[in-house]
Amino acid sequence: MAEERKLTNAEFIDLQDFIYKKSGMFFPLSRKNFIEQKVLKRIESLEYKNFSDYLAILKKELYQTEIINLFNEITVNETFFFRDQPQFEALEKHIIPRLAASGRKNITILSAGCSSGEEPYTLAMILREKFPYLPFTICGIDISDQVIAKADWAEYTRYAVRHVPPDYLKKYFIPLENGNLKFRDEFKTGISFKKMNLMEFGASPGLKSKRYDVIFCRYVLIYFDRVSKQRVIDTFHEKIAENGYLILGNSESLSSVLGNFKILHFPSAIIYRRT
Ligand SMILES: C[S@@+](CC[C@H](N)C(=O)[O-])C[C@H]1O[C@@H](n2cnc3c(N)ncnc32)[C@H](O)[C@@H]1O
Repeated sequence: MAEERKLTNAEFIDLQDFIYKKSGMFFPLSRKNFIEQKVLKRIESLEYKNFSDYLAILKKELYQTEIINLFNEITVNETFFFRDQPQFEALEKHIIPRLAASGRKNITILSAGCSSGEEPYTLAMILREKFPYLPFTICGIDISDQVIAKADWAEYTRYAVRHVPPDYLKKYFIPLENGNLKFRDEFKTGISFKKMNLMEFGASPGLKSKRYDVIFCRYVLIYFDRVSKQRVIDTFHEKIAENGYLILGNSESLSSVLGNFKILHFPSAIIYRRT
């Protein structure tokens, strides 16, 4: 059991700085309680005595696994199938047809901050149903290895699939005895998942020359400050193929870090095109 149950402001700032440098996520002082609870949970499970011992271990980076465990605790992984439907409509009615018309023979999509896979599987269902002649690859990446394992396993609650059209639900999912639904293996072709930190994404050796037609990065950068957001957006600019697209969460704006993207307005959806 931890002896010190409160983080001092100095310890919090140390931790805030560490998390920020490693992940780009910035937790303001107003979220100190949240961080305190999460870190306390880690300290108790490791049977450390106090926050400072734990911080020292994190900073020495002797145990990379503990950094991953901490990220598993502090990331917000809320997601569901067909989240923000108007963006998928814009994808179906405008973006994919434009890409196909420009001669793309294979559509490549990155779901950055994919959480447990609901977004990549939603995209796969839409592409299969609406563009059956067009091969695709969808890569989901996330900093949390726990959600990447869930995405690979692909088992979902009824609540997570509440917006999936009934005919898709019937075709793409197997109902399980526990009431959950599993995305069918035979429809996973072209979809892959990888644990990856967006702050290291640009330098990742396996992905250096890879370009994407569309990058989805929804409800991820809301936890980033302006500087780390700019860094990620710049990497996206490098990684998006010419005239490719970037899709952020509905409430998110690129206005402070716009760079070389043009804003396109669709009914109830704003999408960015690489210029
Ligand atoms: C709220 S979920 C959004 C999931 C999905 N994009 C959606 O809109 O439904 C945010 C995800 O971003 C991930 N994330 C946060 N910081 C990240 C980073 N630096 N690199 C990669 N993933 C990150 C979190 O682990 C979490 O699963």
